[in-house]
Amino acid sequence: MTGAAEAAIQTGFVFVPQVAEIAREAGARLREYFVQGVETEYKGDVDLVTVADRTVEKLIRGLLGEVFPEHGIYGEEGTRERLDGEYRWYVDPLDGTTNFAHGFPQFCVSMGLEHRPKGIKPDDDGTLVAGVIYDPMRDELFAAERGRGAQLNGKPARVSRVATLAEALLATGFPSRKRHASPNIHFYHEFTLRSHGVRRAGSAALDLAYVACGRLDGFWEFNLNPWDTAAGILLVEEAGGLVTDFARAHYRMASDEILASNGLIHEELIGFFEEMFAGRDLAPIPTPEEFARARKNREQGVANRE
Ligand code: IPD
Ligand code: CA
Ligand code: CA
Repeated sequence: MTGAAEAAIQTGFVFVPQVAEIAREAGARLREYFVQGVETEYKGDVDLVTVADRTVEKLIRGLLGEVFPEHGIYGEEGTRERLDGEYRWYVDPLDGTTNFAHGFPQFCVSMGLEHRPKGIKPDDDGTLVAGVIYDPMRDELFAAERGRGAQLNGKPARVSRVATLAEALLATGFPSRKRHASPNIHFYHEFTLRSHGVRRAGSAALDLAYVACGRLDGFWEFNLNPWDTAAGILLVEEAGGLVTDFARAHYRMASDEILASNGLIHEELIGFFEEMFAGRDLAPIPTPEEFARARKNREQGVANRE
């Protein structure tokens, strides 16, 4: 048994020890594919998929089926099993496929477990009860269970104490589908001006895991799916943070918007979202043409001084 699994047992984790082993095995497979290099295919105009996504989902499906034969599985690459069960795993076998395909070492395996009490309507959310995110390149295992806290490699994980947006490091992501309909570049711009910076590292699950362990103070994105977010949401909540949509409502699996933070800067972030959606207080971005003019003027100024 690995050290992380032993530590998990000591804290009273019920699902994490076994699912951590599965995540590690899946991560090891991803790492092998990453080192050897894989061909990239297109799912849409820019949405990539590789043999690693499909093979690792199949591996996880088999392993989860052995360990939790009654649990359902809902995976990004098409697995739909036992969806009427009392428990359901949301599985992203490879979160960060674009990074992976380009040899950029920021990606992970993400598995989140939802409890769905008998009689729940198909479209209603249950309760997230366990989550594991594994980064095979750094050998980092993020794990949480409802009411039992969050951990990074067996040690307690806590959100940061940064109390103002001006001192915060944030992250976001951009959709590969429907890119033309996304307003996110405006939010990216505004938050870049108001914070220590906004990272766009390409794995939403790791972004959430990083909020949970205080490396990031906030994260937002549009149009994510439950396999991207299920494990990360629980990690953030169990690490003392907050997850809502942009209007303070409790985050739902079908939400088009996610905002996760350390809790302390949440209200300030929401206030800015409200201002921006209302078109107020937006800082103008120079057009390339204006910038070219300013550049030329600077060059001429230098030439005149010489
Ligand atoms: C993507 C990543 C990325 C986010 C995209 C997701 P995938 O997942 O999480 O950070 O910006 O919206 O689709 O396709 O690599 O599993
Ligand atoms: Ca994903
Ligand atoms: Ca994926």
